[in-house]
Amino acid sequence: MAFPHHRPRRLRTTPALRRLVAETDLRPRHLVLPMFVKEGAAEPVPVASMPGVVQHTRDSLRKAAVEAVQAGVGGLILFGVPSRYDATGSAACDPDGVLNVALRDVRAEVGDATVVMADTCLDEFTDHGHCGVLDAEGRVDNDATLAVYAEMAVAQAEAGAHLLGPSGMMDGQVGVIREALDAAGHVDTGILAYTVKYTSAFYGPFRQAVESQLAGDRKTYQQDGANVRESLRELALDLEEGADMVMVKPAMAYLDVLRAVAEVADVPVAAYQVSGEYAMVEAAAANGWIERDRTVLETLTAIRRAGADVVLTYWATEVASRLD
Ligand code: PBG
Repeated sequence: MAFPHHRPRRLRTTPALRRLVAETDLRPRHLVLPMFVKEGAAEPVPVASMPGVVQHTRDSLRKAAVEAVQAGVGGLILFGVPSRYDATGSAACDPDGVLNVALRDVRAEVGDATVVMADTCLDEFTDHGHCGVLDAEGRVDNDATLAVYAEMAVAQAEAGAHLLGPSGMMDGQVGVIREALDAAGHVDTGILAYTVKYTSAFYGPFRQAVESQLAGDRKTYQQDGANVRESLRELALDLEEGADMVMVKPAMAYLDVLRAVAEVADVPVAAYQVSGEYAMVEAAAANGWIERDRTVLETLTAIRRAGADVVLTYWATEVASRLD
């Protein structure tokens, strides 16, 4: 018999064959759209570093939520941009705070047609931009922050969030939120824990999107990109504390971590394709250096292949529409 004996190319011959043997699929239901809403905005405000992304007004948020639902996305996750900041981020717990109002608006609009999630974190609301409250020395005070998260979580559940996404990387955040929700009777409000969250330069454009007040960095609470074992410990702790789903973030520079987590997690796993991943592709495409649509699908497929059941992506509505 002539060489080569094995011809893997056979299964790549036609589109139908390739479709038949594809191991990974990407469907609208896998995608979650992060959305920003700006308090008091009269018009949607474009985010310069994220072409195509805006800070919504209350009205444009409702409209965009409906479009996302019509495209079939699996969920929405909301972030607030408040008009007032203070040291404890008190607007986060205020039922009339921008994020809680937005959650109520969106639930009133879409009901249970998709899954409505909230970012449960203080950085958008504090005048120093940290994800928690500070102690007398200016360090992020873990346990004092937990008390605020508990209050914020109940406010978000009351506003109608189906799932809460604690993203501040405080130790014990999942447990304290679970306890507070249960005590307030919100036993069915779930927790999508930002279990693995690295200190990352890829969050840069997001900080513009939420008009972050941060000076300094988050290295004492977000993880060091050099580590992976640590992520498995974070996973074990979040599961023990009651996480219903877990997340890895960022996605593309941490696909090995995502794979490691997905191999052992016994809950659904999400990955967050963050603002910098989005901006990178958009910028290269705008320069004509990369084919935008193919690149977008390739990145999302890679994240699914690495083990994500769910992918948070700013392209969610567009891609969901394209996937028919
Ligand atoms: C914190 C939070 C951040 C992101 C999501 N939640 C920013 C940070 O940790 O500094 C980043 C998301 C993105 O970059 O798209 N509330």
